[in-house]
Amino acid sequence: MTICFASNNAHKLEEVRNKVAPLGINISSLADIGCAEELPETQDNIPGNSLQKAMYVLSKYNIPCFADDTGLEVQALNGDPGVYSARYAGPQRNSTDNINLLLKNLQGVSNRAARFRTVITLVGLTKRPVVFEGIVDGEIGSSLKGTSGFGYDPVFIPNGHHRTFAEMTMNEKNQLSHRAIAVSQLIAFLTENFKPAA
Ligand code: IMP
Repeated sequence: MTICFASNNAHKLEEVRNKVAPLGINISSLADIGCAEELPETQDNIPGNSLQKAMYVLSKYNIPCFADDTGLEVQALNGDPGVYSARYAGPQRNSTDNINLLLKNLQGVSNRAARFRTVITLVGLTKRPVVFEGIVDGEIGSSLKGTSGFGYDPVFIPNGHHRTFAEMTMNEKNQLSHRAIAVSQLIAFLTENFKPAA
């Protein structure tokens, strides 16, 4: 069985491919199915964008598909940047600009609570879309720390840790990340419902 993961991100694809290989499931990227266009992401919430991307691939390419969408939700900013995390400081999607704007908006704010939220929506294998969600609670540091990872990693300190995601190895972060939680739910669902023939 082949399922498309609506992504061209090599790290995300590798992580999922390794986990579903024992199930006999092949994962195609967007490039693998010949999808070169940018997927629509016009919803105003994370689950909406995840569903929109997955449905786009299913209806245009007629292949079962799952899509992920992630956002950083900061309590004191009423959940911003949320669904707009990638474009917080503008359409250039620049992580340094995004972090600088976030720190500016949190200047003098003592409530630094935040969470990363990933939603994965799977369509085309079951009658209705199936939704998986991974959340990691944490707080926003006062300055950038660490150089690994991407996006908001240098300012996000997960609860129970003293280091930012960017100060952790990729392996460490992958054990506890929001995406890892959502992916493990997806894998559990596929394992339970689409066991390879004995
Ligand atoms: P996407 O839905 O995975 O493309 O994520 C949207 C945006 O959220 C990214 O452009 C990043 O700014 C941010 N983001 C997503 N995942 C992470 C993460 O694991 N660490 C830091 N930032 C992230």
